[in-house]
Parts: sequence; C-alpha cells; structure tokens
Amino acid sequence: VDPQLDLFAEIEKLKKEKNAVILAHYYQEPDIQDIADYIGDSLGLAQEAQKTNADMIVFAGVHFMAETAKILNPTKKVVIPDFKAGCSLSDSCPPPLFQRFREQYPDHVVVSYINCSAGIKALSDVIVTSSNARIIVESFPKDQKIIFAPDKNLGAYINKVTGRNMLLWNGACMVHEIFSLEKITRLKHQHPDAKLIAHPECEEPLLRISDYIGSTTGLLKFTKEDSAQEYIVATETGILHQMEKVNPHKKFIPAPPDNSCACNDCPHMKRNTLEKIYLCMKYEIPDIIMDEGLRLAAKKPIDRMLEISA
Ligand code: 13P
Ligand code: SF4
Repeated sequence: VDPQLDLFAEIEKLKKEKNAVILAHYYQEPDIQDIADYIGDSLGLAQEAQKTNADMIVFAGVHFMAETAKILNPTKKVVIPDFKAGCSLSDSCPPPLFQRFREQYPDHVVVSYINCSAGIKALSDVIVTSSNARIIVESFPKDQKIIFAPDKNLGAYINKVTGRNMLLWNGACMVHEIFSLEKITRLKHQHPDAKLIAHPECEEPLLRISDYIGSTTGLLKFTKEDSAQEYIVATETGILHQMEKVNPHKKFIPAPPDNSCACNDCPHMKRNTLEKIYLCMKYEIPDIIMDEGLRLAAKKPIDRMLEISA
C-alpha cells in the first residue's frame, strides 16, 4: 500500500462505494475502533451482524466472531482483515475431541461460550457470551446436568454465582490467564482507591479479589456509572481506549501480566491493522465461506441464545 495513502479517507470511501459496515471488537487497536461503525462485545457484535442492511460486513475481530456473523447473515459478504486471527480459547476445543467427550455424558445439555468454532457450536444446545452466560444457565432447571465448553474459567465463575455444578471443558484464553496476582496485589496497595475490574475469563483467585466482573461492554458501562476515579483493568488492553474516551478524567491502569509476557495484548486481535482493513475491503478477500449444513447446525444454538437475550 502506498504510504502516502490516507487510509482513513480511503476506508470511508470504500464503505460508501460497497455499502459496507465495519464491526469492531473492543480489543482492536484504537485507529480501528475510531473508524468502526459499531464497537461492541461478542453479544452486541452478533446482534449487529444479524440486523445490518449493509452488503458487506467487515469484521475487525477474530475468526469465530466473523464466522458467527456469516452464520447469522449468510447473504452478506463477510470479510476479515487477517485470516490468521484465531483464538486460543477456540483452538483449545477441537470438535472431534469434544464430540467424544460429549458422547460420554448423554444426559447433559451442552452450553458453549461463543468463543468456539462453528463445529463446536453445531455440537451445542445453546451458546452464551460473557454478558448472558449467567441468565442462560439459570434458564435451565436447577437439576439439569450441563457441560460447559470451552472456557473453564468462565464456567467456574458461572458455577460459583449460580450454585451449579457444570462439567467444564479444560480450555482457557491465553490473554486472561497471564495476569500476575502478586503484581496486581502490589498495585492495589500503591493505588488504594483504585477498583479492580476483571473479565470472567480470568482465573478464580483474581476474580475473587475483583470489585466488578463483566464482559467488555459490562466493564465499560461500570466505569461510566461508578464513582471511583481510578481502575485496574484485568482484560485485554484494547478496551482502555473507550474507557479513556468516555471517562476523560479517570485513570485506567492495565493489570500487569506475569514475567513471561511483556503485555496483555491478544496476539490474534492485534493482527488486524488499518492497512489490512483497507485491503480486505478493496479486494473483498479473505471472506468467510461456510458449508450450509454446518451453518444451519451452528445457527440453532445461537438463535436460542439471541431469543433468550432479546
Ligand atoms: P466479550 O467482549 O464478549 O466480553 O469477550 C471477550 C473476549 O475475549 C473476546 O475474545
Ligand atoms: Fe481468544 Fe482470548 Fe484473544 Fe479473546 S482475548 S480472541 S478469548 S485469545
């Protein structure tokens, strides 16, 4: 791409020319968030993808999110800036292994976190996101046996708040498991008035000392409504952009990771760049193509989630 090119202007031009909409997750870099038509958490993005009238959905997030958009709105072209933007959590649950696991528990229903492949969705009874997992699990009778996949941390958190005993698949997100409890505790002492806010993909010891736990949208909303002036934020750093924008006088400190990692950026989310957005819009590749049988099987549990969350 010509370095002289004004990518912001070119992307705006392409949006109009192609009747395209850019949907971005909160973990995207600030420039991408600023050019997006909608920024949201996984639930908001799925709802937006379902109802858009655009001809082209440009999905600035990771593969499972774009795949979900295609499942819900198959007549639209869904393009992604980088086909390699996957998800460690989704990768931790391969469909053939999960199918064998599920077969061992025929009396269990399967509740799956949206961070999974279409293959796992097709093996599930209902999908959840971090913002509706609790109400969806609670919509089942108390004695219903449940398998929860693929995130063991979110599953353990939902078990704790609902008093359930769901069987958990052993998956996790690489970003939310690297926080250092020791460094966070030190930081809390240095900033005694700061509140610790965390995503439920974090491990239990961190969640136990958190003041608020929620999805990215939930965390952002909390910082808007809460009266504290300082927050330690235990999730991917991309969310800080919106937190700082809507709360210009508050201070946000990214929760520190352990020494194995320099920062808590998601390497998959951060594969996307403004330049790649421009290129995928211009050439309309890579785009999501799905087998129709798989799409329909994966759609059923997502529709069930959207009905409960409407
Ligand atoms: P939410 O934005 O739905 O909270 O999901 C967080 C996440 O890890 C997405 O990959
Ligand atoms: Fe997956 Fe974690 Fe990255 Fe979200 S932050 S896309 S769950 S690896």
